[in-house]
Formats: sequence, structure tokens, C-alpha cells
Amino acid sequence: MSDLEHDEPEHDEQERSGPPPTASAEVLAAACFLVAALAAIGLGVVYWQGGQTQLEGLMLAVATGGIGVGIVVWAKRFMPHDEVTEERESLASTQEEIDDFRSAFEHGEQSVVGRRLLLGSAGAALTALGAALLFPIRSLGPRPGKGLKETAYSRAKGRAGGVRLVRADNSPLKPEDLAVDGVLTVFPEDHTDDADSPTLVIRTRSNQKLDLAEGRDAWVVDGIIAYSKLCTHVGCPVGLYQAGEGKLLCPCHQSTFNVLEGAKPIFGPAARPLPQLPLGVDDDGYLIATDDFSSPVGPGFWDRDR
Ligand code: FES
Repeated sequence: MSDLEHDEPEHDEQERSGPPPTASAEVLAAACFLVAALAAIGLGVVYWQGGQTQLEGLMLAVATGGIGVGIVVWAKRFMPHDEVTEERESLASTQEEIDDFRSAFEHGEQSVVGRRLLLGSAGAALTALGAALLFPIRSLGPRPGKGLKETAYSRAKGRAGGVRLVRADNSPLKPEDLAVDGVLTVFPEDHTDDADSPTLVIRTRSNQKLDLAEGRDAWVVDGIIAYSKLCTHVGCPVGLYQAGEGKLLCPCHQSTFNVLEGAKPIFGPAARPLPQLPLGVDDDGYLIATDDFSSPVGPGFWDRDR
């Protein structure tokens, strides 16, 4: 035999490699998918009931593990593993091979559980896991509703006596507690921890003429005017009051607001006035808010006035 004859490639068909598809393998794969589906449903239920981190982790592991094992079993036992070599000149399948493939594809081999059940269980597992993974959206928190547009002062609307303004220790104050040129940070009564409620009350000088929007002169008590303390640029607390000029400065980016003209911005990046709080005095002589701020407090993404 010549060397050339030794180099000739062998063209023979090998036996099927890998284990043959069996009923038990089919059952195993379907069982894995069904267990995964149940674990994913369980994950959703546990989360909905308030959550339990360890249990959720276990459920997630079982769900993803079940799907993984099911896919591995499927791939190993039901996907073709045959290695076939043939002469290059003859790539086309014979009619017999085509018929065999079509039959195997459509009906499967040795199908006991049934491919439909197998596909159905896999689909159920993936669907259940996908649905369970949507649940954490709930953890983003409740819909804010009007919560970002109102403060605790909104309770004053239509309420006799309004909402008292209080110091940080929740003690109320009277107009005479604030000296001329004085500035004080106050809050709505019983809401001293609310992040959106810090308010500056400022006592202007009697010779300082206020130039406020129509109807807002009545929001001033004895020269005391109140504005939100949150800068309308990005929310820093304003607080540097230049009494002689009636200007409030924000230390973050130097926005400046004219207290005497409705806290309109006269310098810096802030584009919106500080919201004004309508003031009054209750029967006991304490300062009160008669309504909420004139517009939503804080950064100007609201970009609107009421
Ligand atoms: S936060 Fe006040 S100027 Fe930027």
C-alpha cells in the first residue's frame, strides 16, 4: 500500500455518541422545569408577603438551578450528538435520511412524557421566573402622587387656625419673638423632621417696601415674611441674609434672591423664586401658615408656579 493510500481520509459513520434519550431523562428534565416554576412562584409569594432574604435567595437558586439542570439534561439527552463524516462530494441527504430526520424532529424518539409537556414545563419555569423577577419593581416605593408637590403646611388649607410655625424643638413662636432683621428657620407643627418643610421667616425693616405679587401683601404679618429654605436650583438650604439689601444668598452656587420682591432670583443659576408661605396669626397670637407654599419647594424641575 502506498503512502498516498495511507493519507486518504476515512469516510465512515460512527456510532451515536452520548446517552440515548430515555423516558427517565425526559421525566427528569420536565421535573426540573416544574420545580423551577414552583420555586419562582414561591419567590414571588415570599416577596409579596414582605420578603425574607434567605428564603428568597433559596427560591431564586432553586428556580435558576432547576432551569439550568433541565436545559443540560435536555441538551445531553435529546439533542443530536452523532458525529458523522462523509465524503465531501456528497453533501446532500438522501430521501431516507430526510424522512428519518423529519420523523425524529416531529415526533421525537422514545417520547413518553411528550415533547409538548417538556416544552410547556420549560416555558412555565422561564415565565414564572421572569414574572418573579418583576416583583422587585415594587421595592422602588409607593407612587409619590401629590407627595412631592405638597408639604405638611397643606393641612392648613381651609382649616381654622391654620398650621402653627414652630422652632426645631416644636415650640411655637409669636411675631414679637423675631427681632427686626432677624431670620429664623421654622417648620410646620409636629413636622420638624420633614425634609421639604424648612422655612425661613424674616422680619424686614419698616422702611423696606415690599413689592409682592398681587394678593400676597396679606401673607405678611408685622413685616414678617416666610419663604421655603430650599434653594430652587438644586435644593441647598439658603440662609445668608443681607438685611440691609433684603437679599438671601445660597452658599452652594451663589444664587441670590430678593426677599423684598417675592424672593425672585437676581443672581446665580436659580431660575425660580423661593416659594412663599402665606402667614397669619391664630387666636393665641402664634404665627401660622394659612395654606401651603405658593409653589412646590426645592429644585426647579417642576418649573411652574401655582
Ligand atoms: S443650590 Fe442654591 S445656587 Fe445652587
